[in-house]
Amino acid sequence: MRLEKYIATSGIASRRAVKKRIQAGLVTVNGEPVFVPGHRINVETDTVEFEGKPVEPLTEHIYLMLNKPAGYLTTRSDERGRPTVMNLVADLPDSIYPVGRLDLETEGLLLFTNDGNFAYRLLHPSHEIEKTYLAWVKGMPNDAAIQRLREGITIPSGTTAPAKVERLKISRDGASTQFEVVIHEGKKRQVRLMFKAVGHPVIRLQRTRIGNLQLGNLPQGQYRLLTPREITALMKLNGQ
Ligand code: URA
Repeated sequence: MRLEKYIATSGIASRRAVKKRIQAGLVTVNGEPVFVPGHRINVETDTVEFEGKPVEPLTEHIYLMLNKPAGYLTTRSDERGRPTVMNLVADLPDSIYPVGRLDLETEGLLLFTNDGNFAYRLLHPSHEIEKTYLAWVKGMPNDAAIQRLREGITIPSGTTAPAKVERLKISRDGASTQFEVVIHEGKKRQVRLMFKAVGHPVIRLQRTRIGNLQLGNLPQGQYRLLTPREITALMKLNGQ
């Protein structure tokens, strides 16, 4: 968006006044003065300051969580027409999009927002925001396998950071074991690949927590808006 338009739509000053301030060098983009009113900025990632004060766009931000069922792609659209998570939030404004992703077959907590800055920060690896998963895996991993998962294990995309891995229960017939896993990275298919690496593939995977946000008893396929308290706490974790 053009710089002058962006500032004017935030309500700080009229477009004409904004233009003059830009030409006078009183507006910075990512800390550098920009003298050209038509300078194009990325509203999602650029930081604009007007006379030293950050400019916040006036759009209303929406934050929600969905309990994603298996069988839905985490994408805004699929050219092959397969079901996507957007189908489950179709009654909300189209400006929202998923923050991060869950695999096709993974269930559970998926965040959506139209606040690009928030999404960018939440996904940034430097914040190391914890995520909890319930994983049902084939067979009964022994203590040595569990220890390897805790310490970090090599998967195709690299070595995983230490993780919290707790055995919750073993099925009566011993065919599967349920674990709680806490990680703070977002390597592709990470939990599945970790258990595969110790010879116990994941049968079912559900994300139950992101930072302070708990999935709780939200029914599958349903969403709910985050409370102001949840948003504030998440932003704090985010460094916002
Ligand atoms: N780990 C996985 O393997 N899949 C997900 O969707 C999320 C984490």
